[in-house]
Amino acid sequence: MSLVKKPFLSTADVSKEDVIAIFDRSALFKKEFEEKGRIDHLIKPNSLGQKVVTLLFQEPSTRTRTSFQLAALRLGLRVVLLDNMSISSMQKGETVGDTIRNAAAMQPDLLIGRFNEDLDAEEAIKALEIPVINAGLGAKEHPTQALLDAFTIREYRGQVEGERVLLVGDVLHSRVANSNLKLLRNLGAEVAYCAPEEFRPKDSLWQDVQHFPHRDEAVQWASVIMGLRIQTERHKDERSIGLTVANFRDRYRIGGDQLNHFREDGILLHPGPVIRGVEFSNYVLQDPRCHVLDQVTNGVYVRAALMSFMLGIEVSS
Ligand code: CP
Repeated sequence: MSLVKKPFLSTADVSKEDVIAIFDRSALFKKEFEEKGRIDHLIKPNSLGQKVVTLLFQEPSTRTRTSFQLAALRLGLRVVLLDNMSISSMQKGETVGDTIRNAAAMQPDLLIGRFNEDLDAEEAIKALEIPVINAGLGAKEHPTQALLDAFTIREYRGQVEGERVLLVGDVLHSRVANSNLKLLRNLGAEVAYCAPEEFRPKDSLWQDVQHFPHRDEAVQWASVIMGLRIQTERHKDERSIGLTVANFRDRYRIGGDQLNHFREDGILLHPGPVIRGVEFSNYVLQDPRCHVLDQVTNGVYVRAALMSFMLGIEVSS
């Protein structure tokens, strides 16, 4: 496992073999929890020590923050949480980079951080000498979301290799899309996207990725559909602000009409938060092919597995 005591900032940091090892351990944790209601008994004696994880969240989060916290507690780790920057010394003028450097200077065994896109934050986390997990960095990357997405694809489709994964929505501002593209291609999936002109990615990473201008054709191509929220908090230019939600919904929302053309054994995913009626209709969220809450459940086990590897925690199988 190349991630032991290393930073995990991008899905490009992890090899295919490491991903398989993370998935196998995630599946073990999930099965064990479903059977016995616990996973801490799998940890080999003396392997946990008194390890402490610091969660530092500058941006809002429901799923990522609490699933990391829950996963750490299920493993038997101790957790320090700083997720309300209005009570941090950033209020007194300290920069986000210095906040990260100070949190790391306290020497937690692992730092898990989510930050706005900010050069200061990026430079600080890249230079840390303690293990760090990127829990979402601006519009750049969200690698643990991509891991749990791919794990969910493997669980409900049987494999990732050969799958046709369609991203629909605001790809331009999505860190989830960037992390997923790198990971899914590494695992042998085909990736395409369907987005209005205003939300098409500009980065060279996306240059050779297939784009479907029309939703119906895209849905027929896919075996996995992943909706992406319109990330208004990251919109800086008039063009994207000018695209109304109603306009987006009319042309890009996945609803009952689209599901009629989607394969029976396909699956629908969304990293959340879902804005009901915009990316997916209420009807779609209730369809048995929709696994949005299963992704959230899987996030706990995938993050537990990742942390256990990064901390060098030994697990009996
Ligand atoms: N998917 C995701 O990152 O959700 P949160 O913003 O709620 O953590």
